[in-house]
Amino acid sequence: MSSVLKVTNLTKDFGGLRAVDNISFDVGKGEFVGLIGPNGCGKTTTFNCISGLLDATKGDVEIFNRNSNNLTPDKVQKLGLTRTFQHTRLWRDMTSIENLLIPPRNQFGTNPFTGFASFFIPDEERLRVRKAYQTLDELEIRHMAHNLTSELSGGQSKLVDIGRALMGDPLLLLLDEPVAGVAGPLAEKIFNNLRKIVDDKGISILVIEHNMDFILRHGVDRIVVMDQGRVLMQGSPDEVKDSKEVIEAYLGGAK
Ligand SMILES: Nc1ncnc2c1ncn2[C@@H]1O[C@H](COP(=O)(O)OP(=O)(O)O)[C@@H](O)[C@H]1O
Ligand SMILES: [Mg+2]
Repeated sequence: MSSVLKVTNLTKDFGGLRAVDNISFDVGKGEFVGLIGPNGCGKTTTFNCISGLLDATKGDVEIFNRNSNNLTPDKVQKLGLTRTFQHTRLWRDMTSIENLLIPPRNQFGTNPFTGFASFFIPDEERLRVRKAYQTLDELEIRHMAHNLTSELSGGQSKLVDIGRALMGDPLLLLLDEPVAGVAGPLAEKIFNNLRKIVDDKGISILVIEHNMDFILRHGVDRIVVMDQGRVLMQGSPDEVKDSKEVIEAYLGGAK
């Protein structure tokens, strides 16, 4: 399987604190991978280094076989990577559909030429509206299209946030705790939808979660387990479940 993300010996220090300590892992094309570990173990910092928000202290990140060490977040996004944040950032005084329709950076847009040629080329705006509704359909939240996002529950907001990320047609999606604080059945629905998106669109998803029991039961292909800045182990859910290191770390109160 070709890899869409390759992290090699990544290290990130904040002053004297080593938040990420020489970690290596990759994500294959069409793979759904969980990045798991207790709070404070370095998961979000890893995302920040991959997405260009932070410069790594050491190590390499390759996205679609391109070294992205010195790229800014917008350049990383142009490579096909989109990420969400642990705390959803929606426009609270806009509806769900309006949040999805905020244009991405590289939108073609209307200009004198496209205006003149609009008879011949498809109406970009109409296509985007159709796509936004389709995306809400895929996430099973179309009935909330016209609700202000301030009226949505935490879980529903997370789904809108994922929808917004999907509108940019990412090839690799990084989701930071998309089900943290989300009620059980909705959390399950979010993960089922993510699995469906990976299978239907062939994109890759790397998802951060801190609950080991949850990630083991919700259809990821592979799990990377972090602990205190390091990768403790990686493997299939069954391999992780049976791993002595993981059992020791988690039974040792790290959970
Ligand atoms: N910008 C920052 N400055 C200083 N320390 C940070 C910063 N971001 C994270 N940390 C520290 O790095 C460690 C890892 O944090 P983080 O990556 O957010 O963990 P996780 O996402 O696994 O909960 C924690 O000790 C946290 O306090
Ligand atoms: Mg975090």
